Amino acid sequence: MIGAFDSGLGGLSVLAAIARELPRADLVYLADTAHVPYGNKPDDFIRGRVLAIGRHLVEAHGCTLLVVACNTATAAAVNELRLQHPGIPVIGVEPGVKPAAQDSVSKRIAVLTTEATAKSERLARLIREHAGKVAVDIIACPGWATRVETLHLDGPEFTAEVRATVEPLLERGADRLVLGCTHYSFIAPLLAPLVRGRAELVDVAAAVARQVQRLASPPPGAGTGGHLTLLATSRPERLQAALPALGLGQLAAHVTGAAALARC
Ligand code: DGL
Repeated sequence: MIGAFDSGLGGLSVLAAIARELPRADLVYLADTAHVPYGNKPDDFIRGRVLAIGRHLVEAHGCTLLVVACNTATAAAVNELRLQHPGIPVIGVEPGVKPAAQDSVSKRIAVLTTEATAKSERLARLIREHAGKVAVDIIACPGWATRVETLHLDGPEFTAEVRATVEPLLERGADRLVLGCTHYSFIAPLLAPLVRGRAELVDVAAAVARQVQRLASPPPGAGTGGHLTLLATSRPERLQAALPALGLGQLAAHVTGAAALARC
């Protein structure tokens, strides 16, 4: 059983990539919707949530591999989660600074992310270690994850806000915009036409899914599995409704509540 989690719907972008890569795997996804968004919360709060959710996925659902499908939670707590579960692979999600820097022709990239990730030491280190001589703008995008949670993915007002965020980056010459929050994959359809011809969007979901495929043990075999359970700490029914709205209608899931976990 592979377990993945996020503050809410964003990690479903990673989950969908895992389901594509490993169609026979049994998957469980937990959305901590009682506490979304994480991006404006302190690190120690996020760390407490990550450790409680990780323990729940391992002990109650028998997960043998965990995916922290959230850049913010990875920055705050992936090390502690690994210490808590030394016997299983724990895969975090980090902004694709390395591929963006490698591919950048203009030698300028931007990372779009939550407030918490923007100020994290982990992102600063990622940039120090992997950006080389490429200039990196870190742009916090408050409210964007909540837009995804409420399925307000477009509209003139939000389009104007997104344009006002990315236009200065493009004018400064950024040719790669890194989606540094898993929620933003669902904003990509709005972003793509705004940056077309000037910059490419960088999303690591498929790379994370390949890493899951490499580390999943035993490898999910043919003829079994392929079950998906969706859990939410608040209003689980919204998860089911969100799947088609997020373009994930192909994911047939059993949806259930995890309200007890909201209080941990
Ligand atoms: N999806 C998460 C991330 O990748 C968190 C968004 C939020 O809850 O603020 O950072």
